[in-house]
Amino acid sequence: MQILDHPGRMQDVADRLRGQGKTIGLVPTMGALHEGHLSLMHRCRSENDTSVMSLFVNPLQFDRKADLEVYPRDLEGDLKKAEAAGVDLVFAPAEQAMYPEGFQTFVDVAELSRRWEGASRPGHFRGVATVVTKLFTAVKPHRAYVGQKDYQQALLVTRLVRDLNLDVEIVVMPIVREPDGLALSSRNANLSSAERRAALCLYRSLTYAEGRVRAGERDAKALLDGVRTIIEREPLARADYIACCHPETLDPLDRIEGAVLFALAVWIGRTRLIDNVLVTG
Ligand code: PAF
Repeated sequence: MQILDHPGRMQDVADRLRGQGKTIGLVPTMGALHEGHLSLMHRCRSENDTSVMSLFVNPLQFDRKADLEVYPRDLEGDLKKAEAAGVDLVFAPAEQAMYPEGFQTFVDVAELSRRWEGASRPGHFRGVATVVTKLFTAVKPHRAYVGQKDYQQALLVTRLVRDLNLDVEIVVMPIVREPDGLALSSRNANLSSAERRAALCLYRSLTYAEGRVRAGERDAKALLDGVRTIIEREPLARADYIACCHPETLDPLDRIEGAVLFALAVWIGRTRLIDNVLVTG
């Protein structure tokens, strides 16, 4: 497995691979790899000649310094997992290489960045859109693989690619969960065992919402009230936002007429977790 730490060097290797007619797949990550990332890599390997994984904790997308400081990091462990997963090339740039002095160009996906995660974490999606654009410029992938757990991010990256005519196919993969339903997340590593148990309220509330929609409930307020009650019953949990919204525009819904996305962010102690469920027909 090759490891590169400079965007320019990465571009040279990508040009060479493309020159040889090889397809490149990219799984962009911030490290602290778990089974969710590995499922993306598995699909990436099955569809591309060369599989690249980026490991870069992007400071630009952290709205709170404290969050950046506690973000789990384990480069050595990640490299072992990447190798075992059959990654051909790891792109792990240093911060200085990605954002050298004088850096001042940003990518802003205006509308999709506004709500939910964007409203709670000012500047977050500008950081995501900027780094993803830079990762695509460096790795020059034919396909990039992202998870549905970060639903708004996946939508935004898909929009970004369309709006900027980038020649990358975005593949969105389903959420990977623990057997008890907890969505895999690098942030789960920061939960105590009591918090880990409390965190199940996210999945429980989403399962409840899905069940009620399937049983015929159409009133968004009734659904949101039910979800909020489940979260509030858990003493260690505090809801940041609970969304019942259109899956493409992310606009809040009053009535469920077709597909609906339930998405939420919940503080469990000092850890903020997100999860979602898409209910279609
Ligand atoms: O989802 C993530 O891990 C990050 O937001 C991403 C897409 C790697 C950009 O830093």
